[in-house]
Amino acid sequence: MDLAQQAIEILRANDRGGYTVPTATGLYPAQWNWDSCLVALGLAHFDEPRALTEIETLFAGQWADGMVPHILFHGDDSSYFPNASVWQAGPARRSSGITQPLVAATVVRHLFDRTADPAIRARLTALVPKLLAWHRWCYAARDPYGTGLVSVIHPWESGMDNSPVWDDALHAVEPGPSVTHLRKDIGFAAAGHRPTGLEYDRYINLVIKFRDNGYRADCLYDISPFRVADIGFNAILQRGNQDLRFLLTAIGDVGGASEVATMEQKTEAGIARCWHEEDGFFYGINTRTSVIIRKPGIAGLLPLFADAAVAARHPRLVQRLESWLARVAYGVPSFEPGRPEFEPRRYWRGPVWLIVNWMLVDGLRRSGRAGLAARVRRDSLALIERTGFAEYFNPLTGEPLGGSAFSWTAAIYLHLAAESQ
Ligand code: DGY
Repeated sequence: MDLAQQAIEILRANDRGGYTVPTATGLYPAQWNWDSCLVALGLAHFDEPRALTEIETLFAGQWADGMVPHILFHGDDSSYFPNASVWQAGPARRSSGITQPLVAATVVRHLFDRTADPAIRARLTALVPKLLAWHRWCYAARDPYGTGLVSVIHPWESGMDNSPVWDDALHAVEPGPSVTHLRKDIGFAAAGHRPTGLEYDRYINLVIKFRDNGYRADCLYDISPFRVADIGFNAILQRGNQDLRFLLTAIGDVGGASEVATMEQKTEAGIARCWHEEDGFFYGINTRTSVIIRKPGIAGLLPLFADAAVAARHPRLVQRLESWLARVAYGVPSFEPGRPEFEPRRYWRGPVWLIVNWMLVDGLRRSGRAGLAARVRRDSLALIERTGFAEYFNPLTGEPLGGSAFSWTAAIYLHLAAESQ
């Protein structure tokens, strides 16, 4: 069976009826927010209506205040920790109580651009007000004082759970009682490829704090001991803003489009403040302490995805990416190789993730950097050809890591393989 057919088989096998689990291995037995959105990019290559259903199912779990949770629990979640009974969040107590990167508008725009089917267009149009409500919520709940940068209040909101970028900010969180005996993830994946016990204790203690405060959008920003204006989260939001404004304009919602244009202006200024001239890199800010986090994680490259002008404005950023690629067999590592915190096998502390590669390929192309985009695309496809559809990969060896038969890896493979060079 060729690789594209294998990718389709993985997406079909991980389909639980209306949503796709990230992997059939049991590691993630629910619907994850940004996983589903990125999976829809791949589904669209062989089943447009099903791609749309993936996003519709996600938005069926949207809270009344506009938040789209980072996990929706639809079925038996007993093999996951923390599951719905730990979170106790949402109207039906079937979700987590935090969000994840707002990549949905970009995917919906992609589906909108590629379809010729009026029925699909109508369903996409119905999603647009829901997308707007989520973006509104994000600014209100995660930047309530209007700084121009939204903050994540849990490392899980960034999607890059254990990036070294969080290390110092996470130290402000009490570890609380050890939850190592409750963890299920290390029964499915090697402990050395996952976040540490101490990180998990802190993750869960944050969840308990949010739960004790009823997940109230009007207070979590103030009470969370962990609060970071993540450059990656803001960059993905900014790209989403552009795509959402396009969609609102396309459906004739002039007021909505102008509201999003204001969001874009704020975020553009916020991202510009994250540029560190001396280091030639974009950094996030610990918004509890106002300290700039001078650690080169892959999130600092994502302004390339947000804005096609960034590459020309900051050629040193592109050179930095090139220097990372020169030091690995397969790009793009999730943290700068050679740094003491770089761990090539541990989750977001070094491994390659195809979803971020796709964002960089897309951003580099839009910036006119076709050669570099082709290199990142080539590495992405080569990893799959060499080792299959793993959750993430060792950038030094290509070794497959984490879950196997992974949905978003299969989806990105389909998407990148279908594109011309
Ligand atoms: C996990 O359980 O590892 C997830 O990344 C949390 O969202």
